[in-house]
Amino acid sequence: MGRPRKIRPEQDLTDIKRDPIQTLSGMKDVLPEDQKYWDFVVRKIHNLCQCYGFKRIDTPILEESSLFERGTGKYTDIVEKEMYILKDKSGQTIALRPEATPGIARAYIEHGMKNRSQPVKLYWIGPMFRHSRPQKGRLREFHQFNFEAIGSKSPGQDAEIILLSWNIYKGLGIKNLSIQINSIGCLDCRAKYIATLKDYYKGNKTKLCSDCKRRLEKNPLRLLDCKEEKCARLANKAPQIIDTLCENCHDHFKSVLEFLDELNLPYILNPRLVRGLDYYTRTVFEIWPEEEKAQASLGGGGRYDRLVEELGGDPTPAVGFAGGIERIISKIKEQKITVPEKEKPHIFLAQLGELAKKKAMKLFEELLKGGIPIGASFGKDSMKSQLKLADRMGISYTLIIGQKEALEETVIIRDMETGNQEIVSGDKIIQEIQKRLKSFK
Ligand code: HAM
Repeated sequence: MGRPRKIRPEQDLTDIKRDPIQTLSGMKDVLPEDQKYWDFVVRKIHNLCQCYGFKRIDTPILEESSLFERGTGKYTDIVEKEMYILKDKSGQTIALRPEATPGIARAYIEHGMKNRSQPVKLYWIGPMFRHSRPQKGRLREFHQFNFEAIGSKSPGQDAEIILLSWNIYKGLGIKNLSIQINSIGCLDCRAKYIATLKDYYKGNKTKLCSDCKRRLEKNPLRLLDCKEEKCARLANKAPQIIDTLCENCHDHFKSVLEFLDELNLPYILNPRLVRGLDYYTRTVFEIWPEEEKAQASLGGGGRYDRLVEELGGDPTPAVGFAGGIERIISKIKEQKITVPEKEKPHIFLAQLGELAKKKAMKLFEELLKGGIPIGASFGKDSMKSQLKLADRMGISYTLIIGQKEALEETVIIRDMETGNQEIVSGDKIIQEIQKRLKSFK
C-alpha cells in the first residue's frame, strides 16, 4: 500500500523531486487489467436495479458535515472517528461523504420527491471516504452501490430490498453467502431494551474494552457487535432485543421473515446484528461470506423510518441497502468466477511514414464513426512493433497503410493468422471489413 512521502528538513529539493509519489494510504488505482471486473459488477447492478424499478440518482461527493452528524449519527464510528472533514474557503465545514443514505434522503427532501408516486425507488453507485485503519477489505476510498426505497412502510418493501441485494451477489455467481438479519425495533421498544441492556452490563463494565466502556453511555446497542473477544463473550449472553419488541415491530419483523421464507432466501437470525449507523429502525440485515465474519460483510442495510424527518422532511418510512464493490471484486477473484473479457477489437490499423499516419488517422475516425471497433497505436513508428502489438491483442486482421498505399489510396488487409495480405481500394475498405467482421457475430 502506498504511503505519502515524508519530507525531512535536511532533504535536498532535488531528492524530493526524484522521490516517486504514491497513492495515499488506503486508496487504490484501478488498473486497465481490473476494469473488466468493475464493468461486470457495475453492469449487473444497473441491470438488476432497473429491472426492480429503481431509478438512478447521483449526489455530490462533498456535503455539509452536519448532514452526517444528524443522519448517520454523531456518536457512530463513521462520524466520530472516520469522516474526512475540511473547511472550504468560505469557512463552511464540509465532509467527503462516508456513506450515501443521508445524501439521498437530503435529495428526496430538497427536490420535493414526496410529491412523486411513493415509494420513490432510487439507486446509486459511487466512491465513499472513511478514514479508518486500512486493512484487508477496508479502504479509505472505496465504492458502494446503494438502493433506497423511500415512502413505504410495508414489510414487503424490506423483503424486496433484501431480495434485490441477494440477487446481485447471486447474479454475479458469488457462492457461500448468508443473509444475517435482526430487528432493532422502534424508538419506544428500543428504549426499553437499552435499559435492560445497560442493566445487564452494569456489573460487567470492567470486563469491557475501552471503546465499549464509552459506548455503554453513548451508543449501548453497539456493545453487541464489538469484535473484541472479551466483549463478544459478554454480548453472546446479553438479553435479546427480539424479546422486547413492541407488538407492531414484532408483527413487522414476522411478516418480513414470512416473505423471505416464501422466497426461499437463506437467512440467519442474528440477535447481535445492530449495524453501526444511528438511523436504523426495525429490520437490519447484512450479507456475509460464510467463512468470514462481519468484518468482511459484503453489504448491509435496513429500515430507517426516521431519517427523512431527522433531516427536516415529513415523517417518511424508508428502507435501503449498500454493498462494497471492492469486496465483491475480491470475492469474484477468490472464487475464480469467470468474468467476460471486454469486447476486443478484431481489426488493427498500422501505418508507416508521415503521410500514411495522417491517412490512417482519418480512416480510424471513419471506422469508429461506422461503429467498427478498431485498435491502433499512432505513437509507434515501426511496423514491426505495431504488428507485434496487434498480435498481442489477439487481432484477426491488420490494415496496413505505408507510403505507397497512402499515395495510391489503397489499404493492405493482413490476415494475422495466415499472414496472407490483400490490397483493397480505399473506398471499398469499410465494406471489406464488414464482410470479414460478419464471421465474428
Ligand atoms: P455500511 O455497512 O457502512 O452501510 O457499508 C455497506 C458496505 O460498504 C459494507 O458492507 C462493505 O461492503 C462496504 N464498506 C464499508 N466500509 C468499507 C471500507 N472501509 N472499505 C471497503 N468497503 C467498505 C452503509 O453505508 C449504509 N448507508 C447502508 C444503507 C443503505 N442502509 C440503508 N440504506
